[in-house]
Amino acid sequence: MSKFLILFGNTTLLSKLEFESSYPNCLLHQLDEHLFLFEAEPELAYGMMAVLGGTVKLFEIVKEFDNKITDKELIEEIVLLLLNQSNEPYFNLSQIGKGQRSVSNADIKDLIKENGKKARYFSSNPSESALLSHKSKATELLTYNLMDEDKLLLAQIKGVQDIDDWTNRDRAKPYADRKKGMLPPKVARMMVNIALGQWQQKNEGKPVLYDPFCGTGTVLLEAGMRNLDVHGSDIDQQAVFGTRDNLEWFKKEYNINIASKAFYMDASHVNKEEFDTKIDLLVTEPFLGKQTPRDQELANVFKGLEKMYLGSFKSFSSVLNDGAIVAIVFPKVQLAKRTYSLEALIDKLKAKGYNLLVEPVLYAREGARVIRQICIFTYSQKQNNT
Ligand SMILES: C[S@@+](CC[C@H](N)C(=O)[O-])C[C@H]1O[C@@H](n2cnc3c(N)ncnc32)[C@H](O)[C@@H]1O
Repeated sequence: MSKFLILFGNTTLLSKLEFESSYPNCLLHQLDEHLFLFEAEPELAYGMMAVLGGTVKLFEIVKEFDNKITDKELIEEIVLLLLNQSNEPYFNLSQIGKGQRSVSNADIKDLIKENGKKARYFSSNPSESALLSHKSKATELLTYNLMDEDKLLLAQIKGVQDIDDWTNRDRAKPYADRKKGMLPPKVARMMVNIALGQWQQKNEGKPVLYDPFCGTGTVLLEAGMRNLDVHGSDIDQQAVFGTRDNLEWFKKEYNINIASKAFYMDASHVNKEEFDTKIDLLVTEPFLGKQTPRDQELANVFKGLEKMYLGSFKSFSSVLNDGAIVAIVFPKVQLAKRTYSLEALIDKLKAKGYNLLVEPVLYAREGARVIRQICIFTYSQKQNNT
């Protein structure tokens, strides 16, 4: 077992739920707002960056010092580590949390020079430099002062989010419809991973995923990245054709061979004849109402949405397997004096067999009026009394 530090993106709660659902045996200890510590076998940890959508960086703890170590000794240790790995180190040292040392990149470079070697460094805060460290393959180091245990942790980068690849799936796919509101691929991946991880904790085999409001197919592509077979449908025929194009593009671009199907369907009248098999994971972002509704329209908008959601949940049960996981976005608008949400539905859904698995997690884009509440349910056939 080794110890790792994991840096989540700015959706910490969602990223944490994704991690805990995907790796239930790795216990997370929070160190800072976005920084967590866990223990795992290295082979497991090294594969995490390719799986997780909400993680920016992964560091492995390479040394633990007594907190009494002086700054000078710390610099010597870092130089030793860097020179062991390269004759001409390109590096960055970041520090997170309380009790930071006065050790700078320039101090480290100076000591490397005194050793007769060349070195370069870049300076930036760890959550901002993902693009840089991904492209440059620099050695990024991180220290964290574990005050409770009088220890200073020194960690080295092991994985960085591949931002180019995420952008590629967001921007290069042939069909887009930004007016309708597309789910960011990283959020879609987190939802897929949460549903998949929760399902795998109780079931074996390969689950099939369905998105009944597929839009441009963002959820289906991220599920494809996890090698899942997918079904997608939408009430807009244009979205159905676009999703098919995106799926074909995706399979070629990533050389991934999954079974996929996209068809026209109203989510509140799901017809099971369209499906080759029953569904284990339903992951979706339904129509959330207008993107910028006026205050006086909100009561009506949410009334309409509640009806559509309830109708859809009722109709989903005809294609869901017992124990299926539903990861779904609920809209929420917070005004100064009133909040509009679909939370009241959660209780009503129990009688239809849907049980909330975890507290809903908020995901809000900066400046967005309608924010997303991500809700995870498990479906029980025998509890459905309709
Ligand atoms: C917010 S968009 C989904 C966007 C999608 N997650 C993406 O990233 O591209 C909602 C989609 O639901 C579809 N829709 C609206 N009402 C529907 C219904 N009753 N049944 C099925 N699809 C519906 C819309 O056509 C739209 O494509």
